[in-house]
Amino acid sequence: MTTRAEKTLTMIREVCALGRAELDRPRTAEGDATAGRTLVDGLRAVDPSGEPSDISLSLGLLAPRAPYFDRLVLNAVAAGTRQVVNLGAGYDDRALRFRHSGVRFFDLDLPDVVADKARRLRTLDTDVSHVTLDTDVSHVTLAAVDFATGDVADVLARAGHDAAQPSLFIAEHLVLFLRPYDVERLLAGISTRTAAGSTLALTAEVHPAGLDSSLVVSTVDDVMFDGAGPLRGIRTRDAWLTLLEQHGWQVEDAAGTTAVDHFRLPVDGTTVQIQTQFLTAAAA
Ligand SMILES: C[S@@+](CC[C@H](N)C(=O)[O-])C[C@H]1O[C@@H](n2cnc3c(N)ncnc32)[C@H](O)[C@@H]1O
Repeated sequence: MTTRAEKTLTMIREVCALGRAELDRPRTAEGDATAGRTLVDGLRAVDPSGEPSDISLSLGLLAPRAPYFDRLVLNAVAAGTRQVVNLGAGYDDRALRFRHSGVRFFDLDLPDVVADKARRLRTLDTDVSHVTLDTDVSHVTLAAVDFATGDVADVLARAGHDAAQPSLFIAEHLVLFLRPYDVERLLAGISTRTAAGSTLALTAEVHPAGLDSSLVVSTVDDVMFDGAGPLRGIRTRDAWLTLLEQHGWQVEDAAGTTAVDHFRLPVDGTTVQIQTQFLTAAAA
């Protein structure tokens, strides 16, 4: 039986993919710019009550977010990084859009998402016939994991990720769906797969300083999701920076902020702006 939280997560995953497919985006010389549209073919993005979700509402959030992560992947590939690990990849098409000889993409997500993505990849009219769950060793490897219960380090090792070589790890719109403890476990697992020269880029949901994070999360849940509980990770910027530092990541340009306003809501009688901040960190 699918919970409301799972239905909400499915909707948000599909909204992200459908919204990004509307944007004009770059590709590598070997990349496939049409893959994103084909990958999302037939997705419907309905809310938990079965009503269609308004994709256009997501475009304001995706307009700065998608190019931020696109640029990181392009830069990493150009700089010689040979492994791109996409954590909570959903229907992200970057493995196809930024295909580059010698670069391996690892797309990690929940088992049902990975299974559906694998099915969709097989139907693409591109050279992805080698894609298989967890076993691919050439260009794209899809790997199933639940970050709340699984061991990401083990999953990456089994997927053929080389911990001795630098990686670009990206987690776009993922950690807000994980409980604080699971984010820490994920970062701890990643740190065991991180070679010098690696980069981690993620979106972090940020609330202003001076508020209790668990109160913010529970208020967001009540006000926006009727207690369904999909959003779990909202912290202050300093808390995110400290957490990353504790796991061996030094955030670039920590004094500056790259962000998009996500939503506003009343918390404890005050209107609070929640931002999605884009953080890029180098392995310390
Ligand atoms: C909002 S979607 C974003 C997907 C993709 N990064 C993008 O920007 O389109 C969040 C993704 O994180 C995945 N996710 C959430 N919780 C997860 C968990 N516990 N383990 C693995 N993946 C998870 C979801 O399945 C979903 O695909």
